Amino acid sequence: MDSSVTLGRLELGHATVSPDTCLNGPRAKERTAQQHAGPRAGPLGCVPLSHQVAGHKYGVDKVGILQHPDGTVLKQLQPPPRGPREMQFYCKVYAKDCCDPCLLDLQQHLPKYYSTWSSPDSPTELYLKLEDVTRRFQKPCIMDVKIGQRSYDPFASQEKREQQIRKYPLMEEIGFLVLGMRVYNVGLDCFDTYDQHYGRGLKKDTIKDGLSKFFYNGNLLRRDVITASIAKVKSILRWFENQSQLNFYASSLLFVYEGLPLAPEEKSSTRSLQKNEGVLEYNNNIEQSLSTMYSLHKKGCMQSHHQSKQDNSAWHSLTQLDAGEQETEEMPEVEVRMIDFAHVFPSEVPDHGYIYGLRNLLMVLQTILDD
Ligand SMILES: Nc1ncnc2c1ncn2[C@@H]1O[C@H](COP(=O)(O)OP(=O)(O)OP(=O)(O)O)[C@@H](O)[C@H]1O
Ligand SMILES: [Mg+2]
Repeated sequence: MDSSVTLGRLELGHATVSPDTCLNGPRAKERTAQQHAGPRAGPLGCVPLSHQVAGHKYGVDKVGILQHPDGTVLKQLQPPPRGPREMQFYCKVYAKDCCDPCLLDLQQHLPKYYSTWSSPDSPTELYLKLEDVTRRFQKPCIMDVKIGQRSYDPFASQEKREQQIRKYPLMEEIGFLVLGMRVYNVGLDCFDTYDQHYGRGLKKDTIKDGLSKFFYNGNLLRRDVITASIAKVKSILRWFENQSQLNFYASSLLFVYEGLPLAPEEKSSTRSLQKNEGVLEYNNNIEQSLSTMYSLHKKGCMQSHHQSKQDNSAWHSLTQLDAGEQETEEMPEVEVRMIDFAHVFPSEVPDHGYIYGLRNLLMVLQTILDD
């Protein structure tokens, strides 16, 4: 898609940074699609997803993504065949009677899928109700990376192919494309945002530095986050190396990590709180000052006021998953999930393009770590 929300931008080398995010301190601020398009609220208290880093924006494009008051994400169905195809994909992977080990294994790499959703006012307007994978983070740093050697599917018209190739001719060689990101600057207490033009500007000789921006918090490179991200991407790669039934085009990996650093003495207490009680939950939309956040941490009473029954179950299964991964004290909070399945097709061969992209992405991440 080609609809960037253009804020008054500063060109900083290859970076396209939204200046208002960082110049208005001391509290973190970000403009959202909603602010740009005017106050177009969604149905039933839903609002445009405030921390969306790429893709179609609600109130700006024809379709977009909303945040439900219960903390889930609502992705509006694209016009056919894309929307129904994505819906079918989620339904297949999350089918109650699904007993295909390959698909069951895939679930861990996707946002949880709850159902389709529509508001009583417009029952024909369908949404996919999904887990917000950024939800447990206070200052979520988010990056959307499109994976594969081709952004168009095998059934795309010649025109569509050419359009996609024009957008990023290096896709075939690099195998991935940064679609957007937001990175928390610890010192300034604000987010830097990078739109699709930033990623498209990255060439072979700048891709490493371009990608490393996502892991730089203004003071230091988050090597711990890179290491954890590599482990998660490797796990996704293993899934791809063992399956030949699905091929993915123009699909993304969503990287998320906690931008807010914890003081060393708070690390262990917070983590044990998270694991034992499962009550820590943060709403990305609620601005809280750092000091409030820290004092709440200390009192151990950070608890969502908007927690619904459904969120609770999502949260608990999330913590169970974390516990199963046997996190060490040093392991930072990181998510890497596959998203955007409008162009997933049945196949009989491995997804060579996606595998190529993942391997190259891993190689670049490793180089950032080694340098
Ligand atoms: N489950 C999710 N949790 C949190 N954020 C999400 C989730 N799904 C999507 N997002 C946010 O929305 C953005 C766009 O999502 P997605 O790629 O699914 O939509 P799109 O590109 O508009 O879709 P399409 O390619 O079908 O038109 C992502 O970059 C991410 O910031
Ligand atoms: Mg997308």
